[in-house]
Amino acid sequence: MNEQPDLFEAMHSMRAMRRLKPDPVPDEMLRKVLDAAVCAPSGQNLQRWSFLVVTDEEGKKFFGERYDYWMRNRFGDTLKTIDYETPMGRTVKAALHLSENMHKVPALLFCLGKRDWPFVVAAEDRVGLAPPSYGSIYPAVQNVLLACRALGLGASLTTMHQMFEPEMHEFYGIPETHGVVAVIPIGFPTGKFGPLTREPAISKTHFGKWGQSKPGLAEPAD
Ligand SMILES: Cc1cc2nc3c(=O)[nH]c(=O)nc-3n(C[C@H](O)[C@H](O)[C@H](O)COP(=O)(O)O)c2cc1C
Repeated sequence: MNEQPDLFEAMHSMRAMRRLKPDPVPDEMLRKVLDAAVCAPSGQNLQRWSFLVVTDEEGKKFFGERYDYWMRNRFGDTLKTIDYETPMGRTVKAALHLSENMHKVPALLFCLGKRDWPFVVAAEDRVGLAPPSYGSIYPAVQNVLLACRALGLGASLTTMHQMFEPEMHEFYGIPETHGVVAVIPIGFPTGKFGPLTREPAISKTHFGKWGQSKPGLAEPAD
Protein backbone atom coordinates (compact mmCIF):
# COMPACT_ATOMS: atom_id res chain seq x y z
CA MET A 1 0.00 0.00 0.00
CA ASN A 2 1.29 3.44 -0.91
CA GLU A 3 0.85 5.65 2.15
CA GLN A 4 2.51 8.68 0.66
CA PRO A 5 0.26 11.64 -0.09
CA ASP A 6 -0.16 12.46 -3.76
CA LEU A 7 1.42 15.67 -5.03
CA PHE A 8 -1.64 17.86 -4.50
CA GLU A 9 -2.26 16.45 -1.04
CA ALA A 10 1.37 17.15 -0.16
CA MET A 11 1.14 20.74 -1.43
CA HIS A 12 -2.15 21.38 0.35
CA SER A 13 -0.89 20.09 3.68
CA MET A 14 2.72 21.25 3.64
CA ARG A 15 3.17 23.49 6.65
CA ALA A 16 6.44 24.84 8.00
CA MET A 17 7.11 21.95 10.43
CA ARG A 18 9.42 23.34 13.07
CA ARG A 19 8.77 20.96 15.97
CA LEU A 20 10.94 17.92 15.37
CA LYS A 21 11.79 14.75 17.27
CA PRO A 22 15.48 14.12 18.01
CA ASP A 23 15.40 10.73 16.19
CA PRO A 24 17.91 10.58 13.35
CA VAL A 25 16.72 10.70 9.75
CA PRO A 26 17.79 7.53 7.90
CA ASP A 27 20.33 8.13 5.11
CA GLU A 28 17.98 6.43 2.66
CA MET A 29 15.38 9.11 3.30
CA LEU A 30 17.88 11.94 3.00
CA ARG A 31 19.02 10.40 -0.25
CA LYS A 32 15.44 10.44 -1.58
CA VAL A 33 15.10 14.07 -0.55
CA LEU A 34 18.32 15.00 -2.36
CA ASP A 35 17.30 13.01 -5.45
CA ALA A 36 14.05 15.01 -5.51
CA ALA A 37 15.95 18.28 -5.09
CA VAL A 38 18.03 17.72 -8.21
CA CYS A 39 14.94 16.99 -10.32
CA ALA A 40 14.23 20.73 -10.20
CA PRO A 41 14.55 23.03 -13.19
CA SER A 42 17.38 25.59 -13.31
CA GLY A 43 18.39 28.34 -15.75
CA GLN A 44 19.94 26.75 -18.86
CA ASN A 45 19.84 23.48 -16.92
CA LEU A 46 23.14 24.51 -15.34
CA GLN A 47 22.21 22.84 -12.05
CA ARG A 48 24.37 25.18 -10.02
CA TRP A 49 23.08 23.87 -6.73
CA SER A 50 25.10 22.12 -4.05
CA PHE A 51 24.00 20.69 -0.74
CA LEU A 52 25.73 20.32 2.58
CA VAL A 53 24.19 17.93 5.10
CA VAL A 54 25.13 18.60 8.72
CA THR A 55 24.28 15.96 11.32
CA ASP A 56 27.30 16.07 13.64
CA GLU A 57 26.99 17.68 17.08
CA GLU A 58 29.71 20.25 16.55
CA GLY A 59 28.34 21.36 13.18
CA LYS A 60 24.80 21.67 14.53
CA LYS A 61 25.94 23.51 17.66
CA PHE A 62 27.84 26.06 15.58
CA PHE A 63 24.81 26.76 13.43
CA GLY A 64 22.23 26.58 16.22
CA GLU A 65 24.02 29.07 18.49
CA ARG A 66 24.35 31.68 15.78
CA TYR A 67 20.87 31.16 14.38
CA ASP A 68 19.29 31.59 17.83
CA TYR A 69 21.42 34.64 18.63
CA TRP A 70 20.36 36.37 15.41
CA MET A 71 16.69 35.42 15.76
CA ARG A 72 16.64 37.15 19.12
CA ASN A 73 18.74 40.05 17.90
CA ARG A 74 16.47 40.72 14.91
CA PHE A 75 13.12 40.05 16.56
CA GLY A 76 13.90 40.95 20.18
CA ASP A 77 11.45 43.87 20.47
CA THR A 78 8.68 42.01 18.62
CA LEU A 79 9.10 39.02 20.91
CA LYS A 80 8.36 41.17 23.98
CA THR A 81 5.10 42.61 22.65
CA ILE A 82 3.61 40.03 20.33
CA ASP A 83 0.28 38.34 21.18
CA TYR A 84 1.11 34.63 20.98
CA GLU A 85 -2.57 33.74 20.49
CA THR A 86 -2.75 35.38 17.05
CA PRO A 87 -1.77 33.49 13.85
CA MET A 88 1.40 35.61 13.58
CA GLY A 89 2.09 34.99 17.28
CA ARG A 90 1.82 31.23 16.74
CA THR A 91 4.21 31.42 13.78
CA VAL A 92 6.70 33.38 15.89
CA LYS A 93 6.31 30.90 18.76
CA ALA A 94 7.03 27.96 16.47
CA ALA A 95 9.94 29.82 14.87
CA LEU A 96 11.35 30.50 18.34
CA HIS A 97 10.95 26.87 19.33
CA LEU A 98 12.95 25.88 16.25
CA SER A 99 15.53 28.53 16.97
CA GLU A 100 16.07 27.33 20.56
CA ASN A 101 16.29 23.73 19.41
CA MET A 102 18.17 24.18 16.15
CA HIS A 103 21.27 22.54 17.63
CA LYS A 104 19.22 19.37 18.36
CA VAL A 105 17.57 19.05 14.95
CA PRO A 106 18.53 15.66 13.42
CA ALA A 107 19.72 17.04 10.07
CA LEU A 108 20.46 20.49 8.72
CA LEU A 109 20.39 20.71 4.95
CA PHE A 110 22.23 23.71 3.55
CA CYS A 111 21.07 24.51 0.00
CA LEU A 112 23.75 26.42 -1.86
CA GLY A 113 23.97 28.09 -5.24
CA LYS A 114 26.93 29.00 -7.38
CA ARG A 115 27.41 32.76 -7.49
CA ASP A 116 26.50 34.34 -10.81
CA TRP A 117 25.60 37.93 -11.68
CA PRO A 118 22.07 38.29 -13.03
CA PHE A 119 21.98 39.50 -16.68
CA VAL A 120 20.32 42.71 -15.53
CA VAL A 121 23.43 43.86 -13.63
CA ALA A 122 25.76 45.56 -16.11
CA ALA A 123 29.43 44.54 -16.08
CA GLU A 124 30.51 47.96 -14.71
CA ASP A 125 28.08 47.62 -11.78
CA ARG A 126 29.39 44.25 -10.66
CA VAL A 127 31.06 45.02 -7.35
CA GLY A 128 32.03 42.45 -4.75
CA LEU A 129 30.66 38.93 -4.73
CA ALA A 130 27.81 38.00 -7.07
CA PRO A 131 24.72 36.61 -5.36
CA PRO A 132 23.88 32.95 -5.84
CA SER A 133 21.25 32.63 -8.59
CA TYR A 134 18.32 32.32 -6.20
CA GLY A 135 15.77 31.63 -8.95
CA SER A 136 17.67 28.52 -9.99
CA ILE A 137 17.98 27.18 -6.45
CA TYR A 138 14.52 27.81 -4.99
CA PRO A 139 12.81 25.18 -7.21
CA ALA A 140 15.21 22.61 -5.69
CA VAL A 141 14.46 23.98 -2.22
CA GLN A 142 10.73 23.53 -2.83
CA ASN A 143 11.34 19.97 -4.07
CA VAL A 144 13.18 19.26 -0.80
CA LEU A 145 10.20 20.51 1.20
CA LEU A 146 7.70 18.51 -0.87
CA ALA A 147 9.82 15.34 -0.72
CA CYS A 148 10.07 15.68 3.07
CA ARG A 149 6.30 16.06 3.29
CA ALA A 150 5.75 13.01 1.08
CA LEU A 151 8.11 10.94 3.24
CA GLY A 152 6.49 12.02 6.49
CA LEU A 153 9.45 14.18 7.49
CA GLY A 154 9.06 17.65 8.97
CA ALA A 155 10.97 20.50 7.38
CA SER A 156 10.89 24.28 7.09
CA LEU A 157 12.62 26.89 5.01
CA THR A 158 14.92 29.23 6.93
CA THR A 159 17.06 32.17 5.85
CA MET A 160 18.33 33.72 9.10
CA HIS A 161 21.80 32.34 8.25
CA GLN A 162 22.21 35.44 6.07
CA MET A 163 23.18 37.31 9.24
CA PHE A 164 26.26 35.13 9.78
CA GLU A 165 27.00 33.53 6.42
CA PRO A 166 30.71 34.52 6.25
CA GLU A 167 31.31 32.62 9.52
CA MET A 168 29.59 29.56 8.02
CA HIS A 169 31.91 29.63 5.02
CA GLU A 170 34.89 29.51 7.30
CA PHE A 171 33.58 26.87 9.68
CA TYR A 172 32.17 24.43 7.12
CA GLY A 173 34.83 25.12 4.46
CA ILE A 174 32.32 26.47 1.94
CA PRO A 175 34.12 28.12 -0.99
CA GLU A 176 33.47 31.77 -1.85
CA THR A 177 32.15 30.67 -5.24
CA HIS A 178 28.95 29.52 -3.55
CA GLY A 179 26.31 31.25 -1.45
CA VAL A 180 23.94 29.65 1.05
CA VAL A 181 20.41 30.17 -0.22
CA ALA A 182 18.39 28.35 2.45
CA VAL A 183 18.90 26.12 5.45
CA ILE A 184 16.30 23.39 5.95
CA PRO A 185 16.15 21.67 9.35
CA ILE A 186 14.78 18.13 8.83
CA GLY A 187 13.45 15.52 11.25
CA PHE A 188 10.35 13.57 12.15
CA PRO A 189 7.59 15.99 13.14
CA THR A 190 5.97 16.16 16.54
CA GLY A 191 2.86 18.05 17.64
CA LYS A 192 -0.21 18.97 15.64
CA PHE A 193 -0.23 20.83 12.36
CA GLY A 194 -3.43 22.52 11.30
CA PRO A 195 -4.46 23.37 7.74
CA LEU A 196 -2.66 25.92 5.60
CA THR A 197 -3.68 29.54 6.03
CA ARG A 198 -3.38 31.02 2.55
CA GLU A 199 -5.48 33.61 0.80
CA PRO A 200 -7.40 32.16 -2.15
CA ALA A 201 -5.55 32.17 -5.47
CA ILE A 202 -8.27 34.27 -7.06
CA SER A 203 -7.55 37.13 -4.65
CA LYS A 204 -4.01 37.24 -6.04
CA THR A 205 -4.87 36.71 -9.72
CA HIS A 206 -5.67 39.20 -12.48
CA PHE A 207 -6.97 38.27 -15.88
CA GLY A 208 -5.88 39.84 -19.16
CA LYS A 209 -5.07 43.17 -17.54
CA TRP A 210 -4.21 44.08 -13.97
CA GLY A 211 -7.36 44.57 -11.91
CA GLN A 212 -9.62 42.46 -14.15
CA SER A 213 -11.09 39.15 -13.05
CA LYS A 214 -12.73 36.22 -14.83
CA PRO A 215 -15.87 34.74 -13.24
CA GLY A 216 -14.94 31.15 -14.19
CA LEU A 217 -11.74 31.43 -12.20
CA ALA A 218 -13.47 32.75 -9.11
CA GLU A 219 -14.09 29.33 -7.55
CA PRO A 220 -11.24 27.15 -6.33
CA ALA A 221 -10.72 23.97 -8.38
CA ASP A 222 -11.91 20.69 -6.80
C1 LIG B 1 12.08 33.10 1.71
C2 LIG B 1 11.59 32.49 3.01
C3 LIG B 1 12.34 32.69 4.16
C4 LIG B 1 11.93 32.12 5.37
N1 LIG B 1 12.73 32.27 6.48
C5 LIG B 1 12.36 31.66 7.63
C6 LIG B 1 13.24 31.71 8.77
O1 LIG B 1 14.34 32.28 8.72
N2 LIG B 1 12.85 31.08 9.89
C7 LIG B 1 11.66 30.39 9.96
O2 LIG B 1 11.38 29.82 11.02
N3 LIG B 1 10.83 30.32 8.91
C8 LIG B 1 11.15 30.94 7.74
N4 LIG B 1 10.33 30.82 6.64
C9 LIG B 1 9.09 30.03 6.73
C10 LIG B 1 7.82 30.89 6.73
O3 LIG B 1 7.72 31.62 7.92
C11 LIG B 1 6.62 29.98 6.54
O4 LIG B 1 6.75 29.32 5.30
C12 LIG B 1 5.31 30.74 6.54
O5 LIG B 1 5.13 31.40 7.76
C13 LIG B 1 4.12 29.82 6.31
O6 LIG B 1 4.03 28.94 7.39
P1 LIG B 1 3.07 27.65 7.30
O7 LIG B 1 3.60 26.84 6.18
O8 LIG B 1 3.18 26.95 8.60
O9 LIG B 1 1.69 28.13 7.02
C14 LIG B 1 10.72 31.37 5.43
C15 LIG B 1 9.97 31.17 4.25
C16 LIG B 1 10.41 31.71 3.06
C17 LIG B 1 9.60 31.43 1.79
